[in-house]
Amino acid sequence: MTTPAATNDSSALPTLPTELIELNEAQLNEFASAAETFITRATEGRALQELRVQLTGKKSLLTSWSKQMGKLDSNDKKTYGGWLHQVRSRIQEALTSQQQQLEVAALNAKLETERIDISLPARGGQKGHLHPVTMITQRMQQFFVQAGFNVATGPEVESDYYNFEALNIPSHHPARAMHDTFYFDAHYLLRTHTSPVQIRTMEKSAPPIRIICPGRVYRNDSDQTHSPMFHQLEGLMVTESSTFADLKGLISEFLQAFFGKELTVRFRPSFFPFTEPSAEVDILADNGKWLEVMGCGMVHPQVLTNCGIDADKYTGFAFGMGIERFAMLYYGIDDLRLFFQNDIRFLKQFG
Ligand code: FA5
Ligand code: MG
Repeated sequence: MTTPAATNDSSALPTLPTELIELNEAQLNEFASAAETFITRATEGRALQELRVQLTGKKSLLTSWSKQMGKLDSNDKKTYGGWLHQVRSRIQEALTSQQQQLEVAALNAKLETERIDISLPARGGQKGHLHPVTMITQRMQQFFVQAGFNVATGPEVESDYYNFEALNIPSHHPARAMHDTFYFDAHYLLRTHTSPVQIRTMEKSAPPIRIICPGRVYRNDSDQTHSPMFHQLEGLMVTESSTFADLKGLISEFLQAFFGKELTVRFRPSFFPFTEPSAEVDILADNGKWLEVMGCGMVHPQVLTNCGIDADKYTGFAFGMGIERFAMLYYGIDDLRLFFQNDIRFLKQFG
């Protein structure tokens, strides 16, 4: 008698007589069923191949029974031949179908592990971003464009006339010493500030004038707060009624909008040959030191005259901001030269 546990036992095939003549149909059917169960339990190709050899190979019981067919009389031959054929085809069929199932399973597993997710970001695809100085420049520009200023530009290789002469700084004027200028020759130089764009603008347009000019400038200067190449944002407004109070009001509003909070600011009386009166603006930094962020003042009547603007009718104010200085305060950076060392670890922080 067989228990369910014994039926499920896969460790052995039913033990059958080796003599063909001692077998009956029921025993052979049981044998075929047990073999089928074995076959469906083979979970890999190697195990299935071993089973194939064990069940149908040269040394298998089935082959040995088949070899005994010759000894039978024609009646038995027919009976046993039919039974053995049945057993063999059931086993072959089971082997083939299991083989196919294993192949399909293997293919599916491979497809699963090699699946390509085309929605994944590409490897090493790092996204860049604008340089912090560019972002600060854009932030500054945004305020002034909304306040009605147009953006103007001028050349970085500038003539002595636009960089100095027209701005009321004749050669041998001591103010030239304030700019450590890179000269090409007696007439051409790298502009030391964006103020020459004031001249170029006033020469070709009539008041009212409202422009800003962001751009690179150059001076032979280098320390924590000075770099040989840096950026300024120039501003110029010329109308029939511009006053120093307007200038101060505009700058105060700009600082409030730019930083979004109250800072300690001072307007310090200063001197520029091209403005009168003149001031410089300092902001108290986190380290407790004043940082000079811009120069400004009322456009000198002589400068208006140099550009063909009637100085009796029009007044103007101008300012020149140090963009990196604003970036230092905005981001809390204490060495301006970091902006130009192109250290990716530094730059990455501004994304
Ligand atoms: C000028 O360049 C004037 N043209 C500004 C001006 C414009 C005055 C219009 C009146 C009317 P100054 O040399 O102070 O001024 O420079 C202006 C600002 O540039 C400074 O306040 C400072 O913020 C910044 N700056 C000056 N030199 C450097 C430097 N080497 N590196 C970084 N920033 C600098
Ligand atoms: Mg200065």
